[in-house]
Amino acid sequence: MSQRTLVLLKPDTVRRGLVGEILGRFEAKGLSIVAMDLRTIDGETADQHYAEHVERDFYPPLRAFVTSGPLVALVLEGDEAIEVIRGLNGATDGRKAAPGTIRGDLSLSNRENLVHGSDSPESASREIKIWFPDLP
Ligand code: CMP
Repeated sequence: MSQRTLVLLKPDTVRRGLVGEILGRFEAKGLSIVAMDLRTIDGETADQHYAEHVERDFYPPLRAFVTSGPLVALVLEGDEAIEVIRGLNGATDGRKAAPGTIRGDLSLSNRENLVHGSDSPESASREIKIWFPDLP
């Protein structure tokens, strides 16, 4: 079933010059770009996006990181896109993510882990509304 999902190429991706490499993996897989924007977010937007994590110990440095510079926000579409993208991204912690995945190949951190992908259809619809409220 075709799905839409929210993907972030986080500020470490932009700083490290990995936007092309990572976007290329999604495109090569066959996913379509429905919306795409380079933007720097404020703390309130980070709090909205990461609502389920705001009370966690790791949240203050995560908030500082995601607001630290431009990121690329995307809506990607394709068959089973949510699950497919989570597979391409790999485990949260780049040190533990399998080789062949984006994080497994390119990240050594569980905070600066390059990408975000919605974890369920409910999260995808909530997150797409936050990032692209005008998307039909
Ligand atoms: P993401 O998929 O965007 O969802 C929550 C984010 O929090 C996660 O990627 C990481 O960037 C970050 N994160 C999750 N767990 C930890 C942790 N234990 N320490 C630091 N950052 C974390």
